[in-house]
Amino acid sequence: MPATVIVGAQWGDEGKGKIVDLLAQDSDLVCRYQGGPNAGHTIVVAGETYKIRQIPTGIIAGKRSAIGAGCVVDPAVLISELDELEGRGLRTEGLLYVSGNAHLVMPWHVALDGARERRLGRLQIGTTRRGIGPAYADKATRIGIRVQDLLDPKILQQKLELAVAETNIWLQRVYRLEPFEVSEIVETHLAFAARLRPFVADTSILVDRALRAEERVLFEGAQGTLLDLDHGTYPFVTSSSPIAAGAAVSFGIGPNRIGEVVGVAKAYVTRVGEGPFPSEIEGPANNRVRELGHEFGTVTGRERRCGWLDLVALRFAVRVNGITSLALTKLDVLSEFAELPVCVRYRLLDGNETEEFPAHQSDFHHCRPVFETLTGWEAEIEEGLPAAARGYVSFVEQALGVPVTLVGTGASRERVLALRQDGRTRL
Ligand code: IMP
Repeated sequence: MPATVIVGAQWGDEGKGKIVDLLAQDSDLVCRYQGGPNAGHTIVVAGETYKIRQIPTGIIAGKRSAIGAGCVVDPAVLISELDELEGRGLRTEGLLYVSGNAHLVMPWHVALDGARERRLGRLQIGTTRRGIGPAYADKATRIGIRVQDLLDPKILQQKLELAVAETNIWLQRVYRLEPFEVSEIVETHLAFAARLRPFVADTSILVDRALRAEERVLFEGAQGTLLDLDHGTYPFVTSSSPIAAGAAVSFGIGPNRIGEVVGVAKAYVTRVGEGPFPSEIEGPANNRVRELGHEFGTVTGRERRCGWLDLVALRFAVRVNGITSLALTKLDVLSEFAELPVCVRYRLLDGNETEEFPAHQSDFHHCRPVFETLTGWEAEIEEGLPAAARGYVSFVEQALGVPVTLVGTGASRERVLALRQDGRTRL
């Protein structure tokens, strides 16, 4: 049985957590494939709200869950989440598997992330300042510390000496910050090792065996397509590969083991951090959407920028991920608007219009949105979808050539409607 990938189709915060949580009910293994504690998932189950950053959402549903090699793990955050979930009665041991090849977010990565952003000033990326970029940079430079290094005190000591010596030069000479002491870091990380040892695993074999045994494997991405390091709106991106192919790379399985790709998109768009955003709403509706959608960052509390639905960017997401169906979330946030602009094309500086996402950054930076205005439904969404809401969904399906199979209409798992292709809804 091929695996399913759930991918963010916009700039992150699409509500993937809720969709993963829903699909996890019918899955055997849930795998997080990139990112680290920069992602924030809020899941509401039976009136209980869970906010997790590092642990895969599947744990909330009581499913075996894995963190792949393509993730970065902040051990302090992971342990505090384990403590919290266990304290609330959830099982973690025997359910959570962490790849020994995943890299660790070290305290200097957090320090460097903040220092680099401050130095960039008005050119800053607007990162979450959780050390993500520096952790992936050290991985690529090959001075990173991996989860499996925690299991061998001698190797840990050697690798830390190398990494700290290198990092302290940057911290002291470039950023005028305090250096780190190897002995202190060794001590804290040996304590982390004792707590995390039972969770360290070979996650490639784990997934391979699950797929051979015909188990249902779900991959969950963090962030979103437009934050992808290779294909997103660089440099305003994260440092990993949120696109669907990232799942195969992270878990060390062939791409032919993936069958379905579910793209998750909000019925509008949000973006945190800097960077161009063509369909950004001008005027008071921006604040209104933010209020109605509670658009404040789960991790940083920052205000999210709000935009009308952008079909050009979504078409791009369908292409680069191979999206086979879409989950459209937070449709209820649009319920009070009489008119709903949808961005159907971009107008480029030379006056030409395009339905395709511009390959060149300057075209994207300077393009203007071309909106088509759809009629709102101006009513609360209760049992099924009002006709105009169904029309909004159909418009998206026709523009993209992909079915919308799930629609989010409220905070809880129960408020996700499964759409039948005859246009009827069922809960
Ligand atoms: P970093 O991942 O902290 O390095 O941040 C890089 C960019 O990705 C910034 O624009 C962040 O706002 C954005 N970003 C990172 N994680 C998330 C997320 O979970 N949701 C939305 N944006 C994110």
